[in-house]
Amino acid sequence: MKTSAFALSAAFFAPGAYSWGLVGHATVGYVAQHYLDGAAKIMTSHLLNGEPLANVASWADTFRYTKDGQFSAPLHYIDAHDDVPKKCGVKLDRDCGPEGCIVTAIANYTTRMLDDKLSKEERGDALKFIIHFLGDISQPLHTENLDVGGNTITVKWGTEGAASKTNLHSVWDRNIVETLAEGTTLAAAESLSKGIIEDLENGIYKDLKDGWTSCGSIKRGTGCPKAWAQDSNKYVCSNVLPNGADVLRDQDVSGEYYTANAPIARQQLAKGGYRLGKWLNSIAKAEQLKNH
Ligand SMILES: *[C@@H]1O[C@H](CO)[C@@H](O)[C@H](O)[C@H]1NC(C)=O
Ligand SMILES: [Zn+2]
Repeated sequence: MKTSAFALSAAFFAPGAYSWGLVGHATVGYVAQHYLDGAAKIMTSHLLNGEPLANVASWADTFRYTKDGQFSAPLHYIDAHDDVPKKCGVKLDRDCGPEGCIVTAIANYTTRMLDDKLSKEERGDALKFIIHFLGDISQPLHTENLDVGGNTITVKWGTEGAASKTNLHSVWDRNIVETLAEGTTLAAAESLSKGIIEDLENGIYKDLKDGWTSCGSIKRGTGCPKAWAQDSNKYVCSNVLPNGADVLRDQDVSGEYYTANAPIARQQLAKGGYRLGKWLNSIAKAEQLKNH
């Protein structure tokens, strides 16, 4: 995102309008928690002072609006300069700015979690960034430059006057997920996560989940985060904006659009959570190997 575009969006959109909302991030946290092995449970509990992943999953969205955290604002996304809906695609050299992006950030914070020279607090922050960014990278509009990731595509959610006015990015971050979860609380997220975990174990995601982590391990640096960004970005062309942005402008997207896209959003949360659990297991394993 160019500085001018960021300044514009920062002026027009309220804090928090950039990320799966609380429910989405917490859902990813609950799903991941389920897949932690023994070593990862010990590691995360130590670094988070006993807090579960879901409770800290939105920390990065508060931190980015503090003075110390300003640098991290561009790390929540990668702005693919592709050609929606004709051709989607992420290119690191083209789309990841000099200030970094979500792909390099995941690699950076993974390395930092394993860096003995850092304090417990710094490694804890690295973990909180990873928990958050593995959520964001599964939200298709966090991997797209068009219309500031959909932030300038004004749409309606329902027909109830001014209150229904929103934008497509926010619809994906919040409205779709909160409708799926039937609420806006941690409890709603936990309940959504239970259904997702059942589907990962015995349902519609059972045979898909291995493919979601087939990119390899943490040792590949930006390899996996790049593959995940690519995976999310392809849904921008196939599902989020299959007919471009203009057909959606000022339309109510709480009906047919929701019905068509809710399964995609739910699957993206499943991916985020499952990948996060496995990623943290790899980090815990690398830490054990290093210490022996
Ligand atoms: C890695 O993370 C640290 C701590 O947040 C940050 O200061 C640094 O700029 C990051 N480096 C890269 C290459 O993203
Ligand atoms: Zn975010």
